Amino acid sequence: MINKYKYILLLGCSLILISLLFSCKSHHEDEYHNIVDKIEAKSTLYNGTSISSEAYIEPNTIEITEGEHTFLIPERKSQITSYACTECHAKPLGELQDSTKYKKAHWNIKLKHANAHTMNCVTCHNSADMDNLKSLTGEAIDFNRSYNLCSQCHTQQFKDWKGGAHGKRIGGWAPPRASLTCVNCHNPHQPQIKSKWPVRYNTQKEIERD
Ligand code: HEC
Ligand code: HEC
Ligand code: HEC
Ligand code: HEC
Repeated sequence: MINKYKYILLLGCSLILISLLFSCKSHHEDEYHNIVDKIEAKSTLYNGTSISSEAYIEPNTIEITEGEHTFLIPERKSQITSYACTECHAKPLGELQDSTKYKKAHWNIKLKHANAHTMNCVTCHNSADMDNLKSLTGEAIDFNRSYNLCSQCHTQQFKDWKGGAHGKRIGGWAPPRASLTCVNCHNPHQPQIKSKWPVRYNTQKEIERD
């Protein structure tokens, strides 16, 4: 008799176990294989809805496509005070550099980037076509797409930037994506980010570090 009960108990227990296993499985069916699947699945909820960052993005942006990434970046040409360069650079550079005829220009630009053996003004600018930047192989790069200039040497940061890991997103998290471009944060002539002191209330006038 005792044995019979044991068997029934064992059978019952296994049935419970099996049903538990199955219930676990069915519960897992609407879980995701990985985080990418989850993000994709969850973001489809927002597609076709009215959620958009458009209202928060400055109108002065251009759309770019780099690899699989399409996003907006701020337009640059209208922000560059001495653009169009050809307003002065209609003559050959040699002639403009004649200090008996012309005053020194661009006195405010000092190159502090790579060392002088690697880089000078004409690494990035083209004296025969000042209105465009110049790639290392001599191709024209539009001032609005100067990230293509930087990406020649800073491949890792470029990859990170495209993917959204380097730089800053502007507007909001809903589509369309808008991000700052390299020159919004880095002065191409002196690109190092300088360290800053935290803001503080200066009761005694102290000499602040540069
Ligand atoms: C107001 C007139 C003016 C404008 C606008 C202007 N330049 Fe110049 N630029 C000059 C003169 C004059 C020189 C030559 C004297 C000198 O080098 O200082 C010169 C020289 C240069 C040089 C050579 C510097 C060197 O040391 O060899 C570069 C590069 C240059 N300009 C780039 C540009 C670019 C890029 C723009 C547009 C974004 C621009 N310039 C707009 C007047 C101008
Ligand atoms: C690493 C590449 C690089 C080098 C080297 C470089 N420039 Fe530039 N320069 C740029 C880029 C990119 C811009 C546009 C920046 C922007 O969008 O604000 C620019 C902008 C300018 C402008 C317009 C800036 C303004 O505020 O009016 C002038 C003038 C200029 N460069 C002159 C020079 C001169 C002169 C040299 C050499 C002393 C030089 N550049 C070296 C990349 C470079
Ligand atoms: C021709 C190659 C070349 C191009 C084009 C170029 N860079 Fe550089 N950049 C260098 C080199 C070389 C250094 C010095 C690296 C070092 O000292 O470790 C440097 C240094 C820098 C640094 C400072 C790194 C640090 O923390 O010391 C930044 C930021 C930077 N570049 C940004 C830019 C941006 C933005 C552009 C485009 C406007 C650009 N670079 C275009 C070659 C280039
Ligand atoms: C939103 C501002 C911003 C934008 C946009 C941006 N950067 Fe930077 N970048 C920074 C800051 C801040 C640092 C300094 C990080 C640190 O010191 O740890 C930096 C560092 C760098 C460095 C030094 C090496 C490193 O990774 O620390 C390079 C090179 C560089 N950036 C290149 C680029 C290029 C190329 C682009 C465009 C494709 C770009 N950056 C876009 C803010 C920016």
